[in-house]
This record gives sequence, structure tokens and C-alpha cells, in this order.
Amino acid sequence: MDLNIREKLENIVSRAVSKLDEAGTPEALNEIRVSFLGKKGELTGVLKSMRDVAPEDRPKVGQLVNEARDMLEAKLETVRKKIEAAVLAKKLETEIIDVTLPARKTVFGHRHPNTIALEEVERIFTGMGYEVVSGPEIEYDLYNFEKLNIPANHPAKDEQDTFYINKEIVLRTQTSPCQARVMEQGKLPIRMISPGRVFRSDEVDATHSPSFHQIEGLVVDKHITFADLKGTLEQFAKELFGEDTRTKFRPHHFPFTEPSAEMDVSCFKCGGKGCRFCKGEGWIEILGCGMVHPHVFEMCGIDPEEYTGFAFGVGLERIALLKYEIDDMRLLYENDDRFLKQF
Ligand code: DAH
Repeated sequence: MDLNIREKLENIVSRAVSKLDEAGTPEALNEIRVSFLGKKGELTGVLKSMRDVAPEDRPKVGQLVNEARDMLEAKLETVRKKIEAAVLAKKLETEIIDVTLPARKTVFGHRHPNTIALEEVERIFTGMGYEVVSGPEIEYDLYNFEKLNIPANHPAKDEQDTFYINKEIVLRTQTSPCQARVMEQGKLPIRMISPGRVFRSDEVDATHSPSFHQIEGLVVDKHITFADLKGTLEQFAKELFGEDTRTKFRPHHFPFTEPSAEMDVSCFKCGGKGCRFCKGEGWIEILGCGMVHPHVFEMCGIDPEEYTGFAFGVGLERIALLKYEIDDMRLLYENDDRFLKQF
């Protein structure tokens, strides 16, 4: 019996050792460990068969099994170290790091000219006590047209320049619907600007894009007059384009203001003499404006007998193009950072 088990153990150990000598990877090593020392391993099997050993032989046999296990474990440890060293050596050989290579540069983006111009406009108006509010880009026809005094058959609603979602919902064609939304809330007085994206079914060219940006402005209070409108927008023009800028108001028509005007600024390039930049005019048109139409007030729940107000709408791209002397609007949408980095 004793001899039998001794032989069995010697046999197990020698087979395990020769297998271990051939093992080349951590996985192979683990497999061998499990097959000899694991729960169902061969050596564990011998240990389990101890109950068949005569009681007087057990201490001796137990000692033999323990010796065999210690040998195997020692051998496993040696082979494990050898394999790890080999794996590391291989890694060091293949994963060469050239520490002299220049580091990869982090590429930072750049604020878009539209953003820079918008921040400037916001700075000017918040400095005069205006709030900045935003409205939805997908808007009800009711706000985009009806409440701005643009009834059902008005040409401004033409399918050619409005993106209709359905009969009642459109991609807003202007930021003016924010006027109606703010007035409806009924918190008076109002002093707000509302910048945002607008959409028109226009072909892309140097001065048009189907999606562009406007900044709406609205002031409603008691005793607001056209003088307030002029003073405010003149101040705006001076801060934006320089202290020497002069302004000119030309009569115009917008359905939601009465009277309405367009404001021109003296060309900041030639000072008004006429140049290529202002196409020889000396003046550059920059916004539409007017006194809020009494009917618009009524539709938005404000008493036009008690309150008056003025509104204006500026094209953001127009300001960015002028301020940074960019001659093609398409450049603003190409996102070429060689272009953007200039501003
Ligand atoms: N919404 C007008 C447009 O898109 C611009 C405008 C004109 C806005 C006069 C106004 C305004 O608030 O009073 O052409």
C-alpha cells in the first residue's frame, strides 16, 4: 500500500514537472495547476483516497502527499517567475517608446465669430439693463406670424421662404415671436434681447443661408417713445462699431411695428465717404426696428393706451461679417479652424 502510493505520487510529480517544464504561458501554467492541485486535480484525488488507507499508515501517507504538493507548488512558483520574466522581456522588446519624439499637441478650438459678436451685443444690452431670453426654434405659426400682425394670407408666410412642419408649426423665420411670448407672460416693464437661430428656405450664397441668427430686442413700459428707440440704438451702434459711428433711420414697413424703420450706420471703414466696403454708399444697413403696433399689444394682453414700446431685430451674421470684414457668409459655416483662428 505504502509503496503503491509512493509510486503513484512520484509518477504524478514527475509528469507534472515535465509538463511544467514545457509550459510557456500563464494560461498553460494555470491549466497544469488545476489539473494536479485543483479540486478535481490528481494530487487532490490521492488526498481524497486517504480514507481507504489503513489508519496506522495514514500519517506516513499524509506526509508523502504533503511533500509531493510542496514540491509541485515550489516548481509552479519557479516556472511562474520564469514565464513572467519572459513575458516582460518580450514586451520591452516589442513596445518600444521613443521618449525623444515631440509630444502630441492638444488642439484647442476657437470661439466662432458669431459667438464673439453675440457676446459683444449681449454685453452692450445687459449693460443697459436688458435681460437675455430665449425662445423655441420650432415655433407655432401663431407666434411666428399671427400675433405679429402677419395674417393668414400675408406674403411673408410664403412657402418659398418658410419651412413648414405642418399647418400650425414652422421653423421660426425670425426671432420676433419671442416678443409675443415675453409680452404674453404679462410681467411689465420689459427690457429684453432674445438671440437665436432662425430658418428660411433660401439658397446658399455669399449673403444667404437657410439657417442664420437674429437678435431680437423689446422694450415695453409707460411713456416709451421713438426717442428712446433712437437713443438706445444709436448708443448700441457706437459701442459696437466705434464712438464716431453715426446712425440714420429710414422709414420702412414691418407688420408688427408702427412706425417702422431701418437703421443704417455710417461706414466704419471709410467714415461715410464711400468705399468698396459700403459699396460707395457711405452707409451700411444693420437692423429693422419700430414702435410696437397697438394691435400686437392687444393680441398679447397689454393695454396699448397704458403702455408703449419699441422693438428691433438684428442679423447676427451681418454684424459678424461687418465687424470682422468677412466677405462671404459661407465661411462662417465651414468650421475651418484656419479661418476661425483669425478672430
Ligand atoms: N423680424 C424682422 C425680420 O426678420 C426684423 C425686425 C424688424 C424685428 C423690426 C423687429 C422689428 O423687432 O421691430 O426681418
